[in-house]
Amino acid sequence: MINVSQIKKGIVIDHAEAGHGFHIYKALHLDALSDPVVLLTNIPSKKMGVKDMIKIETDFELNMDVLGLIDPYVTVNFVRDGQVVAKQSLTLPREVTGIMQCKNPRCITNYEKVDAVHFYLVDEEKKIYRCEYCDAYTRFKPE
Ligand code: CTP
Ligand code: ZN
Repeated sequence: MINVSQIKKGIVIDHAEAGHGFHIYKALHLDALSDPVVLLTNIPSKKMGVKDMIKIETDFELNMDVLGLIDPYVTVNFVRDGQVVAKQSLTLPREVTGIMQCKNPRCITNYEKVDAVHFYLVDEEKKIYRCEYCDAYTRFKPE
C-alpha cells in the first residue's frame, strides 16, 4: 500500500466513502490553504472495502457542517504533537447556514443578494433541505 507520513498536528478525515474525498477537498476549499494537504483515494479498508482519506497539517478549523453534509460517516481525527488527541464522528446537520443554494428559480435568494440562508433538514436519507425563505425543497449535491 502507498505509504503516507503521519502528520505532526492538524486533522485527518478518515473513513470517507470512496469518491467523496475530492468533493470534500473542494467543498472545504483545501486548495486555498498554504498548509500541507494529502488526499488519498481508494485506500483498502477492513471496514469499508475501500475508503478516501484527507490529511491536513494545519491550525485551521474545519467547517463540520460542510463535511457532515457530504459524508456524515467520516471520522475526524484531531492530531497534536503527532498523536490523535480526539476523534469526532459526524451526523447529517439538522440545519445549515450559508452552504446550500435554493433550487427554486423564483426564490428571492436567487435574484437578490441574501447572505447566510438557512436550510432545514426534511429528509435525512435523500439529504433534502427546506429553504427558510420560500419553503421549497432542495436536495444537497456536492459539486
Ligand atoms: N494519523 C496521522 N498522523 C498522526 C496520527 C494519525 O496521519 N500523527 C492518521 C493515521 O494514519 C490513521 C488516522 O490518522 O489513518 C487515525 O489514526 P488512529 O486513530 O491511530 O487509527 P485507527 O485506530 O486505525 O483509527 P480508527 O479506529 O478510527 O479506524
Ligand atoms: Zn428558497
